[in-house]
Amino acid sequence: MHKKVAIITGITGQDGSYLAELLLSKNYIVHGLIRRSSLIKTDRIDHLFNDRKIRNKRLFLHYGDMTDDLSIYSLINLIKPTEIYNLAAQSHVKVSFEIPLYTANADALGTLRILEAVRNLNLKKCKVYQASTSELYGNNSSKIMSEKTYFNPVSPYAVAKLYSYYIVKSYREAYGIFACNGILFNHESPKRGETFVTRKIILGLKDYINSGKTLILGNLDAKRDWGHAKDYVEGMWLMLQQKKPKDLVLATGKSYSVRDFLIKSLKYLNIRFSTKKNKLGEFFLDSSNGQIICKTDKKYHRPLEVPYLKGDARKARKTLNWKPKYNFDALIKEMIEEEFVN
Ligand code: NAP
Ligand code: GDD
Repeated sequence: MHKKVAIITGITGQDGSYLAELLLSKNYIVHGLIRRSSLIKTDRIDHLFNDRKIRNKRLFLHYGDMTDDLSIYSLINLIKPTEIYNLAAQSHVKVSFEIPLYTANADALGTLRILEAVRNLNLKKCKVYQASTSELYGNNSSKIMSEKTYFNPVSPYAVAKLYSYYIVKSYREAYGIFACNGILFNHESPKRGETFVTRKIILGLKDYINSGKTLILGNLDAKRDWGHAKDYVEGMWLMLQQKKPKDLVLATGKSYSVRDFLIKSLKYLNIRFSTKKNKLGEFFLDSSNGQIICKTDKKYHRPLEVPYLKGDARKARKTLNWKPKYNFDALIKEMIEEEFVN
């Protein structure tokens, strides 16, 4: 049997690194698209790329950019992959309000660049996974969100991802390309980027313990359905192993607030605290010395917020036999233990 050959865009990101590990463990040849930067940013995949049995034998890295048509087309033409996982994106919701045009170019048109290359090169056997998102639901009155729930995106990021969602559907229906959207709810890990709230909380508490520095957060009331990235990349892979492309939700079905995440983390670290609220914000005070462990500041609020997300992954469970192994507590435990050991 021929080896499966995958391109992963966004291989240096949280999900890209877990997916690369998974595909290599399944004997794939993996090609990763990376961006040039003045400092090398391959930390998350160095353990793979520095392995002499893997480097340039089963794992290859190529410079390119989602905003550059020719680099996307040339790479797909060169590799003629059997699977493409499009994970590359400007993935920070708040930042998308600051760089909306770039976000649209990378997150919306980037997907079209991939689909156009697959179509023009007539790659009939190539399957495409698109990293879609629960941000599409946006400001939504539904108690739980499934593949049938209406979309109401509220950030430039979510609107760009909505374009990608529909262009994937359009190319699937118009040209018969095997392309599908994984509508993934938030997923975290010890490899999560430092400015996403879960990792920021754990790094912030570490700083507080080591140097007494106060952690500053934004909206603590927002609720998210938080899973572990390792579970979710498995779901991505399973979506491309199906006979027919289907858009599927991956979620845990549980929703917790940012405040819940903070409090659980404090308890896990055995930090006793009290809270107070006044017109300046909310404060978490260390019971042993009165120091401020954490406080809120409006500068971390977004122009528009997604207040609540909870996903219904029953369709994925039925179609893929997919079920997350990590719950909220196990996720926090692993994130804290990794941070405090290393
Ligand atoms: P991440 O850690 O921010 O990784 C994003 C990756 O995209 C990085 O490798 C980054 O490269 C790359 N990238 C950004 N702009 C690019 C460009 N113009 N050209 C080429 N590469 C570019 O994100 P993640 O958490 O792994 O998420 C993976 C994907 O799933 C993203 O598309 C995200 O929007 C989507 N998603 C994530 C979640 C979640 O909760 N994690 C949920 C739903 C959907 P650098 O390393 O050079 O920055
Ligand atoms: N980043 C951040 N920093 N968020 C904060 C902070 C803070 O200091 N304080 C409170 N929050 C709140 C945000 O307002 C948001 O409601 C929630 O914490 C989660 O924020 P993020 O961790 O930045 O994630 P996100 O939900 O906006 O987006 C992530 O999940 C999406 C899927 O729903 C990203 O991974 C997106 O790429 C992904 O599509």
